[in-house]
Amino acid sequence: MHRRQLVAMALAAMLPLGTAFAQSPIVIKFSHVVAENTPKGKGALKFKELAEKYTNGKVKIEVYPNSSLYKDKEEIEALQLGSVQMLAPSTAKFAPLGVKEFEALDLPWLFKDEATYAAAMKGQVGQWLFKKLEAKGITGLAYWDNGFHMVSANRPLLKPSDFEGLKFRISGSKIADQYFRNVGSIPQIMAFSEVYQALQTGVVDGCENTASNYLTQKFYEVQKDITVSYHAHLQYAVIVNSKFWSGLPPDIRTQLEKAMADATDYTNQIAHQENEDALAEIKKTGKSEIVSLTPEQDSAMRKALDPVYQDVAKRVGQPLIDEFLKETRGATN
Ligand code: LMR
Repeated sequence: MHRRQLVAMALAAMLPLGTAFAQSPIVIKFSHVVAENTPKGKGALKFKELAEKYTNGKVKIEVYPNSSLYKDKEEIEALQLGSVQMLAPSTAKFAPLGVKEFEALDLPWLFKDEATYAAAMKGQVGQWLFKKLEAKGITGLAYWDNGFHMVSANRPLLKPSDFEGLKFRISGSKIADQYFRNVGSIPQIMAFSEVYQALQTGVVDGCENTASNYLTQKFYEVQKDITVSYHAHLQYAVIVNSKFWSGLPPDIRTQLEKAMADATDYTNQIAHQENEDALAEIKKTGKSEIVSLTPEQDSAMRKALDPVYQDVAKRVGQPLIDEFLKETRGATN
């Protein structure tokens, strides 16, 4: 072997491990299940743009939208195994990890509006929930907003008895499971990528989701009646594999944290308008009847779903629920 090659090899062997990162871009695979044209889809692309810019190309973010790499359950396993480094699942999907406290976020009408949701998650409780993930080898970086759920079927859903006997797709939340049971329907957990076909073929009769997801997954094509109930909030936790994250060179991690903070501001700023626009688009197609509940119908639905609060208190403790109620309902409660 040439002497110069030998010297180069000897020098390479002496380099500290972190320097290996400096040789070629660090790749972060970011998998998610929704379309690119949604708040989360756009947020992931914004993070990619900023992360690559702030790190001067030392980090490359590969975004895999629309379940193109993994479906819901698989992606969480893949994160733990290190096959992907970043995800943004809805917090409703954290129960299988054994972090039941996240369930409280799915309580019906927990958040009065977007502002109270945002205030709660920016506060201590959001960070407290992230601490719960640490034992699972997962680090929480940010919460991304996607507005409130609507509910739909091929019949009008205006009062509790309208739900009786219908099968509803749910994403994994034990709370959604309970509230659909409270009104006599049959909830079924199903991966997001399978919902359209399940609605089309009648495997399930209905579903719940935000307007941006109804639009981009075309659920409105296979659901005649959509109720703008805004009964529960959909939020995501952007999470990374802790081992990967803590192993990054500190300067790179700082730049990525800044990219995440900026992408989070962007996503949370656009989420409300994106969903308003999506609802207007769905209305324009004329394919579904879209209704809002009258104040009387709204209060009958709230009453029917209210027992879920007691069930959840048994699972996650009343203090956590009180914390949310304090943050979100302010002085009025
Ligand atoms: C769902 O599975 O219904 C949603 O949580 C998908 C998503 O990530 O918005």
